[in-house]
Amino acid sequence: MLPIGQLMIEHRIIDRMVSLLKKESERAGSKEQININLICVAVDFFKSYADRCHHGKEEDIMFKDLGTRPLSSEHKKMMADLMQDHARARELIGKLETAKTGCQRENPDTVREIKECLKKLVDLYTSHIKKEDKQFFVSSMTYFTKNEQDEMLSRFEAFDRTLIHEKYKKLVEKAEKEYL
Ligand SMILES: [Fe+2]
Ligand SMILES: [Fe+2]
Repeated sequence: MLPIGQLMIEHRIIDRMVSLLKKESERAGSKEQININLICVAVDFFKSYADRCHHGKEEDIMFKDLGTRPLSSEHKKMMADLMQDHARARELIGKLETAKTGCQRENPDTVREIKECLKKLVDLYTSHIKKEDKQFFVSSMTYFTKNEQDEMLSRFEAFDRTLIHEKYKKLVEKAEKEYL
């Protein structure tokens, strides 16, 4: 397995959540309601999986390593654009989480905000994943030898191993603050 193979497997999982949100967006249409349980699942998915786990490996390992190589100006531009997409995704998830909390408290304006966030998220991830899959990933690997790619995959695996512990340690810390 190549490191970009692992990232592409993760893209297929993200695609499935994006499809769910697209369907929910279409189903809700102009109605004043949204499936709030799905939104809760989506917020956790985008924060923990799409951002921390997936973008985490791209930014902290792959893009960082690429930064040490003599990149063409086209690759440099593409990588900056992809990082900007990640930042925009983080911003949208933050907005979605705030709107979700408002919705749970029955604030009527928040359903509209949730729908706007969903549309933007669906568009952003659809185009972002397409850019990585079709334009960036394969050509970016030409900067690494086979051994370097194997070593990168090992670092991806080590990165992933820490995540569940990180997530639940934070959850316990938050619960202690709230309930102790
Ligand atoms: Fe990405
Ligand atoms: Fe990606």
